[in-house]
Amino acid sequence: MSNKTPSTNAASPAGDNAPGKPGAATPGVSQPDGKTTPPQDTDAQQPPAAVSATGCPFHFGAGSDSPDPRTQQGEYLTTAQGARLSETSKSLRAGERGPLLMQDHHFREKITHFDHERIPERAVHARGVGAHGTFVANGNASKISKAKVFKKDAETPVFVRFSTVLGSRGSADSVRDTRGWATKFYTEEGNWDLVGNNIPVFFIQDAIKFPDVIHAGKPHPDREIPQAQSAHDTFWDFVGLHTEATHHTLWNMSDRGIPRSLRMMEGFGIHTFRFINDAGETTLVKFHWKPKFGVHSQVWEEAQITGGMDPDFHRRDLYDAIEAGAYPQWDLGVQVFPDTEDQMFEGIDLLDPTKLVPEELAPVEIIGTMTLNKNPRNYFEEVEQVAFCPSHLPPGIDVTADPLLQGRLFSYLDTQISRLGGPNFAQLPINRPQAPVNDNLRDGMHQVGSHTGVAPYKPNSLDENNPAEATVDEGAFIDVPVAVEGKITREQPASFDDHFSQARQFYISLTDIEQDHLTQALSFELGKCYEETVKVRYLDVLAHVDQALAEAVADNLGLPHPEKQDVADVTPSEALSQMGGTWPIDGRQVGVLISTDLGDSADAVGKLVDDLFAAGTTPLLVAEKGGAVKIGGKDVSISRTYLTASSIEFDAAVVVNPPANTDVNTMLGELERHKKAIIAVGATGKEALGGARVPADQKGIVAVDTADAAADPVKELLASHRVWER
Ligand code: HEM
Repeated sequence: MSNKTPSTNAASPAGDNAPGKPGAATPGVSQPDGKTTPPQDTDAQQPPAAVSATGCPFHFGAGSDSPDPRTQQGEYLTTAQGARLSETSKSLRAGERGPLLMQDHHFREKITHFDHERIPERAVHARGVGAHGTFVANGNASKISKAKVFKKDAETPVFVRFSTVLGSRGSADSVRDTRGWATKFYTEEGNWDLVGNNIPVFFIQDAIKFPDVIHAGKPHPDREIPQAQSAHDTFWDFVGLHTEATHHTLWNMSDRGIPRSLRMMEGFGIHTFRFINDAGETTLVKFHWKPKFGVHSQVWEEAQITGGMDPDFHRRDLYDAIEAGAYPQWDLGVQVFPDTEDQMFEGIDLLDPTKLVPEELAPVEIIGTMTLNKNPRNYFEEVEQVAFCPSHLPPGIDVTADPLLQGRLFSYLDTQISRLGGPNFAQLPINRPQAPVNDNLRDGMHQVGSHTGVAPYKPNSLDENNPAEATVDEGAFIDVPVAVEGKITREQPASFDDHFSQARQFYISLTDIEQDHLTQALSFELGKCYEETVKVRYLDVLAHVDQALAEAVADNLGLPHPEKQDVADVTPSEALSQMGGTWPIDGRQVGVLISTDLGDSADAVGKLVDDLFAAGTTPLLVAEKGGAVKIGGKDVSISRTYLTASSIEFDAAVVVNPPANTDVNTMLGELERHKKAIIAVGATGKEALGGARVPADQKGIVAVDTADAAADPVKELLASHRVWER
């Protein structure tokens, strides 16, 4: 159906069907100002048929009769052009013992495609894992932001990608690092990307230094080692000289740098953003993700073992939890600040991304909840090709002049053009907005759009000026008209010169156990450096945070204590510690250590397994060999053997009657050192602990008579994650 209004202009001499005439209708002389739908094809035009990437008719819009859009259709192996193939394992050759023939188009197509299967990995955050879900708003943000994603009960599809920063695509999940946390909200007003981290502050205040901090953290350029580590000279050289990194560095060295699970991390938008509401009023906000399962970490030895035993630990944990229906959930919250001219709050510069605002000063107000409930179908298509950018914002959310954020607004799109091979990656299924798109962007590498019309420019009359520019009432994104003035300068505000006060606040807010972990982490990382000057310099940095900390690390390094420095007088913030409290235990894994001969314990073990499943945890039976054990007349699968299992898989263990061997002893020793709950069942359980030299009279080691009595202590102890008092 044509949407064209009849032209008032005289017809061209050859009439409306003149070959070469640019539009389907003749435009009027004055510029069209109404709104029209996009141009139609002319009679002489025909677009490619609407089919999926490999030939299935593709009906847009979901419905019961929608065909399967997979890029595999039909029963037969075909070429990329759809010709059926009879052979894919033997090349075409001149005689059975002769050379291969150039005319083997299938060989060439298969090998050529394979040769180009890899795309450049991300310059940073190369190692990632993703999941789909939904965000449901509770309406609390509606009074301060007009974004429809925040309207009460609005449900918005999301895709999240978690990542480590430093490592290459194949590096281990469990390394000490910041975790990236990028969320794409497919809102009805266009995509909103909240591209944050699991740490609320950043290493640098100005984006121009991003290449410096990343070059310092990446492997040394001569040997390309170490992989995915900050424990090396160039990193500590940089952060020792560049003290604005101190706050973030301490967070990285704390337990936050080695999360137990991606499901158990807080997330932060870091920068201050600006909300604008329907009345045009603005507010400054900082975004927080609060996990329903609490914030938990591994301990360092556990993280090290995990890197070797299961480098895919975090992705496996996320995929398994979603598959098991233990959907990870986070509340999204905002800290809200008045949009004052100086953009300060309680003396804290809101434009400085190395600073946070303690929750005691500005509580986090919950504005909705995100649930991740679907794993990706294809890693490359979704997790590798997804492209986030902090400048993807719907009306109602805007940026501030934080110089780190400002630089990021440029960098992501720029890098993606190279990583995704051209400017059309927004057309990839994972990146497509679920709002109508009518841009005037055309052509370019990997163009898959099917564009009509002749006038992809504004203004035009040949396509009746389509697409129209929207007004505010029609939902246009309007940059908040913030007044800006000043002389051109590379100077930064004096408030940015405070590099230590919040680093100290973070340190003194931690519990003794957390402080001890931090001391050990610093000692480990600096201990891995070769250059003494690098270590000495960093001890001086630490003295600006806390003298006792600096001296403890110096002692571990065997170096003199640094000179005492004046330190800031700051108040601890309880919210910065991740210890204390109890949490839901859904998705936790419990090792049930048995022998294939369960003897009298079979029924009790069966009951224990049922109880643990019912509590939302995943019990894993471990025995000396694979197969099944008979429980209640049924065969129950053995999940692991002592050869394949590792303590790092278990958040708690029930020791029933494992065999006496070194694998079991190692496992029990690690469970003890890593402060995990251990429940010893009867005499056999106690014997196993004795064999492993694990004293049974410690906190969090509980003796029960029968296996079925183990479920309650497991549930109780798991709720507080670890038995830190042990
Ligand atoms: C608050 C500071 C920052 C945070 C929270 C942050 C967060 C992230 C996250 C989560 C990703 C991974 C996105 C994904 O999963 O695909 C990422 C990627 C990236 N970031 Fe940042 N980043 C920050 C600062 C910067 C700065 C200052 C720059 C450059 C000036 C930068 C450049 C990049 C680049 C080039 C990528 C790779 C993007 C891609 O290839 O798709 N980031 N960042």
